Amino acid sequence: MPGCTTSDPPAGGGGPGENALVPLDARLRERIRREGPLRWDQFMEAALYTPGIGYYEREPGHVGRAGDFYTAVSVGAVFGRLLAVALTALLDRLGRGSEPVWLIEAGAHDGRLAADVLGWVAEQRPDLMPGLRYGVVEPSLRRRGWQAARLARWADRVEWFDSLAELAAVAPRGVLFANELLDALPVRRLGWDAARRCWREWHVALGEGADVERFEWRLGGEPWQPRPEDQALLAGAADPDGPLAAAFPDGLVWEHPEAALDWWRQAAGALREGWLLTLDYGDWHGGGPRPHRPQGTLRAFRRQRQEPDLLAAPGEQDLTADVDFALIRRAGEAAGMVTEVAEPQGEWLTRLAGTPAGRREAEGWDARQRRQFLTLVHPEHMGRRFQVLLQRRMGTG
Ligand SMILES: C[S@@+](CC[C@H](N)C(=O)[O-])C[C@H]1O[C@@H](n2cnc3c(N)ncnc32)[C@H](O)[C@@H]1O
Repeated sequence: MPGCTTSDPPAGGGGPGENALVPLDARLRERIRREGPLRWDQFMEAALYTPGIGYYEREPGHVGRAGDFYTAVSVGAVFGRLLAVALTALLDRLGRGSEPVWLIEAGAHDGRLAADVLGWVAEQRPDLMPGLRYGVVEPSLRRRGWQAARLARWADRVEWFDSLAELAAVAPRGVLFANELLDALPVRRLGWDAARRCWREWHVALGEGADVERFEWRLGGEPWQPRPEDQALLAGAADPDGPLAAAFPDGLVWEHPEAALDWWRQAAGALREGWLLTLDYGDWHGGGPRPHRPQGTLRAFRRQRQEPDLLAAPGEQDLTADVDFALIRRAGEAAGMVTEVAEPQGEWLTRLAGTPAGRREAEGWDARQRRQFLTLVHPEHMGRRFQVLLQRRMGTG
């Protein structure tokens, strides 16, 4: 790339220290002193997922009204019940053979959505229960514990998988779904250098002098380029010599969702037959850098409030970025998936509630449940900010 030179030390790799008694911020400082500035995605990964002390390893109470943020699941059981309407309609299309069919959830957190979905199927579609398996893709032992406690009633049909690779060994037929998982996966954080016409990567370093304990942003000198497999999906949108680059403001922040793309590709490969479904906040802009969001979309949350400093208190605040649905969609299609739904959550849930099974469900709602539904579909609440992507593995009926 023209004019780009190396000035900062390269990012270090490696994992955090082993001693669980050492707080996360101290471990990260020690790691930076040892290895040099950490790439943002490494910092985010450590802050959210360090075993035992990462943000998502803490007690499950931080999702919901009393916690740091709420999700469609924590709004109430209506989300899970409507999702169950959709999931069972897909299983009906799949048809029953002699093999089990699967509903598989990733990012199941405390198991609440699983309990809502299984409860609805048992109550409304008992005909589907024989031969139905519920899989949970869960790398964390601690979260598995929360899920097992919540799902004790369903112990004989729930099965946990450490990873998508382990799930792929089963080659399931069914639906693999995730609510608000992709936004919680680490992103590469990049800054546009207009003078040099290149992307440079944001790192986390330590300050100097009196600030030696403070985490600080540091822009790497190395020009950054997407991986070849992502270049194709970006279709030139991030190309420093492409036509769009002239419109990029200096310093434009772009969060490239490398981990989410890998997750989606792997998920597509894990299914033998069936669907991939994700619901999350984000948008369908062209895919790649968003010049209309010059500061990027990364946010930190604590007690329902957005916090100003992404680097503060690692492990104690949620870190999240909008999902680039256009790129995720293309990644699935490149992996052989066919897109069936790509639209805002509000429209999708409203259509579902209008199907015969959805109408039967909605007719039974009380005032509290009707309010939950409105929260999920109203454009000012979760209806427009949240999107749905449903893709089908070719060859299913
Ligand atoms: C924002 S929370 C959403 C929780 C829940 N799905 C809901 O909607 O309330 C994201 C969850 O995904 C989990 N997660 C992150 N990476 C994961 C992975 N690779 N596989 C499975 N779950 C993961 C996190 O630990 C966390 O529990």
